[in-house]
Amino acid sequence: MESGIVKILVTEEEVKNTVKRLGAEITAFYGQKDADLLVIGLLRGSFVFMADLVREIKLPLMIDFMTLSSYGDGTSSSGDVKVVLDLDTSIEGRDILIVEDIVDTGNTFSKVIRMLQNRNPRSLKVCTFLNKPVCRVKDVKIDFCGVDIPDKFAVGYGLDYAQRYRNLPYIGVLDETLL
Ligand code: IMP
Ligand code: MG
Repeated sequence: MESGIVKILVTEEEVKNTVKRLGAEITAFYGQKDADLLVIGLLRGSFVFMADLVREIKLPLMIDFMTLSSYGDGTSSSGDVKVVLDLDTSIEGRDILIVEDIVDTGNTFSKVIRMLQNRNPRSLKVCTFLNKPVCRVKDVKIDFCGVDIPDKFAVGYGLDYAQRYRNLPYIGVLDETLL
């Protein structure tokens, strides 16, 4: 294990299997409709998952990214979520799938859902790789959910602590004495 990591929560193998499962679920869901699918990744955390996930969605699609700020370099979520970089694409009348690395309090997802609903997409669904259900403050319905994890600070597979650890190929628990 990388130094600073005390435990592996999701192994590399489990990561691969989870992404395959989600890709199959998403393919089955949108494949039954005449979808105009735009997959939106929330930067920076979702970039690794997003790259793997779109290759497991066996349908025509487009991608875009958005950057929201909520955490800074700390580990506690503020309810104050801001748009740092907006989409480059119009979403009106399209089928939108938002991709997130982790849903913790739900503040980020609930804000982005409200904001994008106002732009009149045809449909809006959400997918997250990790879910921390015990930390929820805002109630958000997750349509495609990877792995539920306990209330630990997770890093790897795109998730960071102070911008580090994003390149780990697994999800690990950070040594809490480092927080
Ligand atoms: P929420 O708004 O509290 O749901 O938090 C969502 C964002 O907080 C995620 O996109 C992550 O960037 C960050 N975050 C929440 N929990 C963790 C964690 O355990 N490790 C790393 N980042 C996290
Ligand atoms: Mg994030």
